[in-house]
Amino acid sequence: MIRIYPSLLAANPEYLQEEVTMLEPYCAGFHLDVMDNSFVPNVALSIDTVNRIAQRGKPVWVHLMVEKPDLFYAQFFLPTDSLISFHIESQIDVLRFVKIIREKKHKASIAINPKTPLEHIIPFLDIVDQILIMSVEPGHSGQHFLEKSFEKIAALVTYRQKSNYSLRVGVDGGINQTNIKKLIETGAQDFAIGSGIFKDTYSVDALQSLIQETKKIIL
Ligand code: DX5
Ligand code: ZN
Repeated sequence: MIRIYPSLLAANPEYLQEEVTMLEPYCAGFHLDVMDNSFVPNVALSIDTVNRIAQRGKPVWVHLMVEKPDLFYAQFFLPTDSLISFHIESQIDVLRFVKIIREKKHKASIAINPKTPLEHIIPFLDIVDQILIMSVEPGHSGQHFLEKSFEKIAALVTYRQKSNYSLRVGVDGGINQTNIKKLIETGAQDFAIGSGIFKDTYSVDALQSLIQETKKIIL
């Protein structure tokens, strides 16, 4: 099953609550970016905002673009089955952190930057729920999708098939109406979409069109 998560970093902060209320019935959940202005040169949603959206009860997808993901994670109150993406490039003991995430009944995901070779995450494929392929350099919404990401997704899918891992493949960055179909055909399943939803006047219409696009595919 394909899951689309609006990335709220791209939403107008003045209308965040309204957007959340409108989109919630149609999406898998919300993708919530957290930054520390060090791992990436930007800040995104505050811890309070993440907790406020999480309080609504639907599992969220938190994307930690921070040097020390465990320190941020400790400050969240998230529903069961929320998905936590942390970067392989961050300062983290992967095995220990995955165990902490699991103990809280959340799902663990490792994110990998465009320039990091896939080999860096291979040793962890059997312990995570998702690998998140970054298809832009992390830090900002509205960037162009990096075409090289297709190769990385295809390589990951091959590893998954060979080894029978049950992990899902996520993609974040530059996803829109024109590339989502090919991404699904390549094997991606979870999509964080920012400007592809929020640059339109009516975000719900944009989300609906993306959902329609995914329904055209017979895998
Ligand atoms: C970028 C963030 C993304 C961003 C996606 O570093 O992780 O989640 O909001 O925005 P778009 O879809 O506009 O690239
Ligand atoms: Zn993100």
